[in-house]
Amino acid sequence: MHVRRLVPDDAPAYRALMLDAYRDHPDAFTSSAEERAAQPTDWWAWRLAPGDTVAQRVFGAFDGDLLLGASGWSRGDRAKAAHRAELFGMAVVAAARGRGAGQALVEAVVADARAAGALTMTLTVTDGNGTAERLYARCGFVRIGLEPMAVRVGDAFVAKATMWRRLVEDSPDPGAARGGTDGTGR
Ligand SMILES: CC(C)(COP(=O)(O)OP(=O)(O)OC[C@H]1O[C@@H](n2cnc3c(N)ncnc32)[C@H](O)[C@@H]1OP(=O)(O)O)[C@@H](O)C(=O)NCCC(=O)NCCS
Repeated sequence: MHVRRLVPDDAPAYRALMLDAYRDHPDAFTSSAEERAAQPTDWWAWRLAPGDTVAQRVFGAFDGDLLLGASGWSRGDRAKAAHRAELFGMAVVAAARGRGAGQALVEAVVADARAAGALTMTLTVTDGNGTAERLYARCGFVRIGLEPMAVRVGDAFVAKATMWRRLVEDSPDPGAARGGTDGTGR
C-alpha cells in the first residue's frame, strides 16, 4: 500500500470511492450521495487540481493502481485563519479497512499541511463513530467540543465532535486560541 496526492486523472476513481462512502455511511458525512452525484465531473477534477496554492489537497491510498481510500485538507483564504488546516473526506473501502490505510492517510494529510505552513488542524467526526475517532486520537487529535444536531440525516439529527491537533511543537494552545474578542469566532 502506498499513499500519494491525487491528481485530476484520479477523479473518476475518487468520485466512485466517495459516492460509495456517502451512500454506505450517511451518518459519517455532511455531504450526501445525491448532492455529490449531481456535481459535474469537472467539480471532482477541480477538487484534485495540482499546485501549492489550491484551496484543498487530496491524498489517496493505493494497492497498485487500485484506490483504497482518500482524505484531504483545506484552509480558508483569510489571512488571520491561514494557520488553520481542516481535514475532510476520510473514507476507506470496506474491503481494505483495518490494515492501516486510514492512519497512513491521516499521516500524509498532516505532513502535507505542516509542510505547507499550517500550524493547527481540525476535523469533525460524528459522535459515536468510534473507529474514526480512535483513528484520529492515535494520530494526535484531541476532542475539543461537541455540536448537537450538527447534521440532519432523514428525520434524525446527529451530533458532531470537533477534534484538534497542533502541527508544530510551538503553535498556540487551545486556551490561547479561544481568546477571541468579538464573540463570533469569525
Ligand atoms: C474510519 C475509517 C476511515 C478507518 O479506516 P481504516 O483504514 O480501517 O483505518 P486503520 O486501518 O488505520 O484503523 C482501523 C482499525 O484497524 C486497526 N489496524 C490497523 N492496521 C492493522 C493491522 N495491520 N493489523 C490489525 N489491525 C490493524 C487499527 O488499530 C484500528 O483499530 P480500532 O478500530 O480498534 O481502533 C474507515 O473505517 C471508513 O472509511 N469508515 C466509513 C467512513 C467514515 O466513517 N469516515 C470517517 C468520517 S470522519
